[in-house]
Amino acid sequence: MKQVNVGILGCGTVGTGVAKILMDNKDIISSRVGAVINLKYVADIDTETDRGITFDDGVFISDANKVIDDPEVHIIIEMIGGESIAKEFILKAINNGKHIVTANKALLAGSGNQLLSAASEKGCDIFFEASVGGGMPVIKTLRESLACNKIQAVTGILNGTCNYILSKITTDGNSFEDALAKAQAKGFAEADPTLDVEGFDTAHKLSILSALAYGMEINFKDIYVEGITKIAPMDFEFARQFGYSIKLLAISKDNGNGIEARVHPTMIPHGNILSNVTGSLNAVTVTGDGVGDIFISGHGAGMMPTASAVVGDVVDIARNILSGTTGRVPLFSYQKENIKKVPVLSINEISTNYYLRFSALDQPGVLSKISGLLGDNGISIKSVHQKDRKTMGSVPIIMLTHSAKEADMKAALSDITSLDVVSEDPVIIRIEDEEE
Ligand code: HSE
Repeated sequence: MKQVNVGILGCGTVGTGVAKILMDNKDIISSRVGAVINLKYVADIDTETDRGITFDDGVFISDANKVIDDPEVHIIIEMIGGESIAKEFILKAINNGKHIVTANKALLAGSGNQLLSAASEKGCDIFFEASVGGGMPVIKTLRESLACNKIQAVTGILNGTCNYILSKITTDGNSFEDALAKAQAKGFAEADPTLDVEGFDTAHKLSILSALAYGMEINFKDIYVEGITKIAPMDFEFARQFGYSIKLLAISKDNGNGIEARVHPTMIPHGNILSNVTGSLNAVTVTGDGVGDIFISGHGAGMMPTASAVVGDVVDIARNILSGTTGRVPLFSYQKENIKKVPVLSINEISTNYYLRFSALDQPGVLSKISGLLGDNGISIKSVHQKDRKTMGSVPIIMLTHSAKEADMKAALSDITSLDVVSEDPVIIRIEDEEE
């Protein structure tokens, strides 16, 4: 039987999972590929820690360059993470004519356009299914299954840590800090939880999905990002009373005037399928002009789900090698010459419905002042709710609005914040809901 040689760089959690699945499922993989996928090397600076795997002699080594420079290695699996060393090794491997599989979303968000060019020039494939949604096959779906569609929207829950935290606050009444500690104990938070809870990990992933969906260069820096650290417990309770869940959503859409790409806490109706995606699960809905709406869900992190996606890419590349082709499926879905620099619309240009919570004195005329300033800025109020009436002090006033432009909302909130009767900065949470 023919043989395709692979080398793994980095034997942390996911690298170990990849080695394990390649070894444990060797027969089933060969019977599908028509060749043996031979794990020739696993390189890591730490070769002492027990990974629970027995490697053949000479497989587990500390020198990554030995893997990259071996002419018999066809595919390099980059499992190091981070942006500097991983990028250096990938570029060197491409230069040596190796095909690449990576799960490194931060690297793709920062340097994906450069890696794509380098791989195309050398006729190498670089596949990255595991970079978004772990084991959930969203990239292949966008790149291949939906190739005939004009993609209209991609909306997703792309960070298991945030989804777990938001679910725990909603269902168990946990504090943010307690829920984060539980997520870290379960092992799916990033080493630096800021990347998760401030929304950057989700934005990295959204930049990749937007490029695939709309034929644009990766545009991570233009994505509006807001994390989940500033939502108060009372907002979860009010959301529930209004029939909404709060999710950290990655939203991208072609709204007719341009491409929106934004990450922020979002209220969605309980009837929205994403509302029922709880715990550490990831999910995405894609809307295409032919297919309509589709929904994909799965484990967005973890050793074996992520390894499953990585090895799926290895199988694709092995099949290409065996049939003597590369670049059959364009790496970012569109042919390279058709990928455009498309600016993402500024958050000020988007329109959406809003949940607003003001802390204001409970006295005559307050509501009319606040609603007057919203009206002056062209914002139409859908409903008003005043909670916990007290004789003294501030009370929460909740307003839900019809669709309004973000720039107008900012102008209105600036006016409202300067009112004497308003005691704290307002809380705003965008709502994704169909207007009745
Ligand atoms: N830290 C990520 C998450 C996993 O919580 O979803 C890998 O992207």
